[in-house]
Amino acid sequence: MPRIYLTTPIYYVNDVPHVGHAYTTLNADAVARWHRLLGDDVYFLTGTDEHGLKIQRSAEENGLSPIEQADRTSVRFRETWELLDISNDDFIRTTEHRHHVAVQELLTRAYDNGYIEKNVYEGAYCVSCEAYYTDDELVEGNCPIHKRPVEQMSEDNYFFRLSAFADRLEAWLTDTPDAITPDGYRNEALGLIRQGLDDVSISRTSITWGVPVPWDEGHVFYVWYDALINYATAVGFGADPERFETWWPATHHVLGKDILRFHCVYWPAMLLAAGIEPLPRFHVHGFLLVGGEKMSKTGINKIAPAELVADFGVDGFRYALLRDNSFGPDSEFSYEALLGRYNSDLANNYGNLVQRVCTVVVKQCGGVGPPPRPDSPLAVVATAAYRETAEAWDRFQPAVALDATWRLIRETNEFLARNEPWKMEPGPEVDAIMGDALEALRIVCILASPAVPTASATAWARIGMDGAVGEQRLPEAAEWGQYPGGSAIGAGDPLFPRLKA
Ligand code: MSP
Repeated sequence: MPRIYLTTPIYYVNDVPHVGHAYTTLNADAVARWHRLLGDDVYFLTGTDEHGLKIQRSAEENGLSPIEQADRTSVRFRETWELLDISNDDFIRTTEHRHHVAVQELLTRAYDNGYIEKNVYEGAYCVSCEAYYTDDELVEGNCPIHKRPVEQMSEDNYFFRLSAFADRLEAWLTDTPDAITPDGYRNEALGLIRQGLDDVSISRTSITWGVPVPWDEGHVFYVWYDALINYATAVGFGADPERFETWWPATHHVLGKDILRFHCVYWPAMLLAAGIEPLPRFHVHGFLLVGGEKMSKTGINKIAPAELVADFGVDGFRYALLRDNSFGPDSEFSYEALLGRYNSDLANNYGNLVQRVCTVVVKQCGGVGPPPRPDSPLAVVATAAYRETAEAWDRFQPAVALDATWRLIRETNEFLARNEPWKMEPGPEVDAIMGDALEALRIVCILASPAVPTASATAWARIGMDGAVGEQRLPEAAEWGQYPGGSAIGAGDPLFPRLKA
């Protein structure tokens, strides 16, 4: 059975989730759901990143201990993912015992292999990024991401010999065209490697909120080198070698472009240093921008997912965010754009199709769904829509996949508008048209379910289909002609009521 291990970044617990975090998690969730439809064995991980100075300081500001701060905020992420119907199989917290064990094991292997050594570090540090910057990376003396002042730090550190891996990393990226998608981000990672890689500091003595360095008490691992290892922890690294070997070769990391350097350069090198292969695959997306600026916890432009769910519903928010913001480039987030998407694609198209089909079958076909015609004009449309949808999910392009699925919805609506079955007398002609429309709708419910799981389940039941829509198996389930005919069709409230501006 094909297998896929999908991860999101683990989110910092200094503040509650915003729509930018939801964007990453939703894209990963939709892909995970697609792979379950394919019958793949899926393991989908998300979680929270709880160590480091950033968390320690925000705890102090809130009058809490770091673990209290982490407990309170981690649960907010969990609740948000439940609200958004995220289908994760696991939720990892870096403060868990299983993670400490894995971090110490992986970094001890790298140390034993001679890739970690002690030295003094001095440099400019951004607490929001939890990262050191060289002087020429700073913008007017400020952090290039947060545009805020950096701090000068100096400490005795363990260093990871990143420079030792430049050639192997370059060979990996040139030999593996799909190591990082979309391709522009592979070029970006190659650029970073070709610019030259300096060794990096991976431990701190100035803080205590972290995983202790097992061979030198008084040092804790610097938050990024603890955090990245969560991906290995969750599939059993350091605890269950058989489980780890089962999942690791199928690893796909989803992340925003802000953390490309850590994921696509440092993490593969750490894995090689610990003797772990094959290297994972990476899927990188751009920023959701508000007024041209990245939506961020420190900015005033952050929006809570719950605010949008209140207006659009869970499925409405899921669909509009995925469809309107392509995976890869930066994308301007706008409420008006989401509203436009919701009304055009959900209220006027998907919702309208379900409503029309059910109403006409109730009125003109005695409430019993007729079977489709094998030679329906919609059969070729459905076949092409499936092919394009599957191909786009495979390339990690949810917006393109949904566009292909929605073509089948639009064409089915047009087919009905052309034939006007609502004007016909009951009889074989109207049955033939409605059988075709029901079959197209059956396929749509399956293909749309990764983005709109609840509405698709409702539509599935309304057209009289048995079982769960999410348990259908592709590609067989997308083949034309399987609508059984003879099922009772239920009418109901609109799935996506039209919203006013
Ligand atoms: N804790 C680290 C990740 C460690 S992974 C081993 C971290 N956390 S974060 O909470 O600051 O952000 C994580 C991710 O949230 C980003 O990589 C990105 O995927 C997502 N986003 C945060 N703001 C975003 C936007 N404005 N737009 C799109 N994605 C955004 O970095």
